Amino acid sequence: MRRTILRGRVLTFVSEPQGIDDTASYRYLEDGAITIEDGKIIAVGDFAADDSAEVIDHRPHLILPGFIDTHLHYVQSQMIASYAGSLLEWLNTYTFVEEQKFSQQGHASTVSAAFFDELIRHGTTTAVAYCSSHPRSVDAYFGEAAKRNMLMVGGKVMMDRNAPEALCDTAQSGYDDTRTLIARWHGKGRGLYAISPRFALTSTPEQLDAARALVAEYPDCYVQTHLSENAAEITYAMELYPGSPDYTGIYEDFGLLGPRTLLGHCIHLNHRETQVLAETGAVAVFCPTSNLFLGSGLFDHERLSKAGVRIGVATDIGGGTSFSMLRTLDEGYKVLQLRGQRLTPLNSFYMMTLGNARSLSLEGTIGAIAPGNAADLVVLDAGATPAMALRLATASSLVEELFLLQTLGDDRAIAEVYVAGARAKSTLGGL
Ligand code: GUN
Ligand code: ZN
Repeated sequence: MRRTILRGRVLTFVSEPQGIDDTASYRYLEDGAITIEDGKIIAVGDFAADDSAEVIDHRPHLILPGFIDTHLHYVQSQMIASYAGSLLEWLNTYTFVEEQKFSQQGHASTVSAAFFDELIRHGTTTAVAYCSSHPRSVDAYFGEAAKRNMLMVGGKVMMDRNAPEALCDTAQSGYDDTRTLIARWHGKGRGLYAISPRFALTSTPEQLDAARALVAEYPDCYVQTHLSENAAEITYAMELYPGSPDYTGIYEDFGLLGPRTLLGHCIHLNHRETQVLAETGAVAVFCPTSNLFLGSGLFDHERLSKAGVRIGVATDIGGGTSFSMLRTLDEGYKVLQLRGQRLTPLNSFYMMTLGNARSLSLEGTIGAIAPGNAADLVVLDAGATPAMALRLATASSLVEELFLLQTLGDDRAIAEVYVAGARAKSTLGGL
């Protein structure tokens, strides 16, 4: 098998940074070499000439693990920037209309291909996506992921009430379709399935019971849903489930919380809910651009983190406004500024890589540049635009360079992407 060596400035995290000076949390090689064979990293170290391998020289750019996005909706790719006052208006006016289009295979295939192009263009090599309630939207998603050899998580949305008839399944059909799709896609190639009840508002107790049965039958699948995003949503959830102590308690009562559960938003949690998340190991997913766009609120990173809650970060396309994890963490930084909390550049880049890999319990597979991991990588150019180049000229440290990438960067800062060792951005059609 032919070996490839990527030469460049290599940065990878080994632990969660404990502050802006925590140099022990990462490994940085000024002139590094990543040796790749058969789609995997087999060695990482200082560069040394090696005639037996093809060398691709990315200097002076930084090479990091590919970005990971832990919550987004591929079926909302064409409705980003829909003008609404708040979550429920946005869902009813645009989202539940848009997602009906995915009953057509042709539409699902076209949008999923465009969606994967956007992920790659923005440096994201793994994502966790909601499909629509139509099984064919899931086939289009995992089919496209397989074509590109990408490690992708996703699932059919389960929703059996409070939405247009054309979008609703039933407790039984949602269960049956999910089982079929798990058999078809979970563990096939790099695909992993997420059991996906949309949220408490669009699932009857019978459907959450069916989701509970699926979780028991398929404990190695993920579970994804939405939690505590918006005040009106919380009020309605408690009207629909008056027997539960709070919103988190609904999912708890139906056995849906565990270390493979990803909960989008988690903005307005009370003390008990925070404790439950910490105890169950469920992951709270911070979606800054979406939370700002829909006016949902300011995620309290410090409170959740201190309570021992696992935290992921995500774009939440199409409530979110950018496919870019750089733009997402830039907005995340500003959200935490408004909360009087600091997010160091080290923590931002940790979160988009190793942190999110840990959220998915995929450390050792993705999220770090280390032997044995997949060669899913992103090459970053901190001088990609004139404004970035101007600022880069005055940057004198790695941390400053990262912060400028986050603050000014977008898809233009993504010089190249590798998926399982193969070039993926420069080989995109239409570039
Ligand atoms: N809650 C339930 N469905 C959705 C969705 O599609 N987007 C967001 N942001 N919140 C939701
Ligand atoms: Zn969402």
